[in-house]
Amino acid sequence: MEQRAVVTAGTGGIGLETAMGLAARGFAVTVVGRDAERGARAVERLAGVTTGGEPHFMAADLASLADVRALAARLAAEGPLKVLVNNVGAMFADRQRTVDGIEATFAVNHLSPYLLTESLLDQLRAAVPSRIVNVSSGAIRAAKRTFDAVEPPGGYYGFHWYGRAKLANLAYTLDLAERLRGSGVTVFAADPGGAATDLTNGTMRSPKIVSPALRLLWPLVRRTFERSTAGPAALAARSSIVAATDASLDGRTGLLIGPEATPVPAFRGSTDPRTIDGVLRLSRQLAPVGHDR
Ligand SMILES: NC(=O)c1ccc[n+]([C@@H]2O[C@H](COP(=O)([O-])OP(=O)(O)OC[C@H]3O[C@@H](n4cnc5c(N)ncnc54)[C@H](OP(=O)(O)O)[C@@H]3O)[C@@H](O)[C@H]2O)c1
Repeated sequence: MEQRAVVTAGTGGIGLETAMGLAARGFAVTVVGRDAERGARAVERLAGVTTGGEPHFMAADLASLADVRALAARLAAEGPLKVLVNNVGAMFADRQRTVDGIEATFAVNHLSPYLLTESLLDQLRAAVPSRIVNVSSGAIRAAKRTFDAVEPPGGYYGFHWYGRAKLANLAYTLDLAERLRGSGVTVFAADPGGAATDLTNGTMRSPKIVSPALRLLWPLVRRTFERSTAGPAALAARSSIVAATDASLDGRTGLLIGPEATPVPAFRGSTDPRTIDGVLRLSRQLAPVGHDR
């Protein structure tokens, strides 16, 4: 039977390289993005390497919860799902709200993968052993660990808010792994390290994204960002590919796969019960799934 895999934000950057790796390992990969032309180009590249089923593109803006729900319905209609890679991520220089009126960093980096995952659990259960991979980031180290509300107290700093949304998603990921333990659906987080992509070549060039204290050190901070995100996306995709496919992880769950594509300790705060409670409460309230509604 065809082994289906989905990679969100899979038409460019690290996501496309992840999709290429999965296609080369025999998966029929569906990549998700907003732009149809970019999608068509990605499908062409995937068709050139696939050793499994045909690749596909599905259009969705993952900043919109209605789009995420519609995407989940289309994917669910296709049947069992072996691998779901929630690769979407975004950092914004200025505070933005989504069409749903939710702060965009939290919506794209956490609520969207949360809602897509919860909506596809039946399809993942129907394909066991199956895997969920949520793409994380070292920016978690700069995160405020408070989840009483969608927006943390204090000013808007894109890099720190991005790290906090990734922390929310990692806390959810590790909690989900426990919830699904023994079900045959295993759950991993993957930290790609850094790569030169649209994300890092754009927003990360602006000093606005860091707190005033770090802004004083901007030349140093900027050099650190540049150095750590200079590598190729193909190398950064290894952590997701290993998390999604490597036999050494069979039967294991709840691990963070680091930039060297091996398990590493989870970032501080990601297993704090207060963080998990806050993140789950916000997620259920803002992106209700089935029984939450
Ligand atoms: N690059 C790094 O150094 C780095 C470091 C740590 C973690 N990460 C994480 O790795 C993942 C991939 O990062 P990346 O650097 O490859 O990002 P990227 O360059 O921004 O990714 C581009 C891809 O994202 C899609 N995309 C962007 N916004 C979207 C939206 N709202 N809805 C649907 N698709 C969307 C784009 O397609 P369209 O434009 O057609 O929508 C394209 O396929 C993210 O989760 C990121 O947080 C990256």
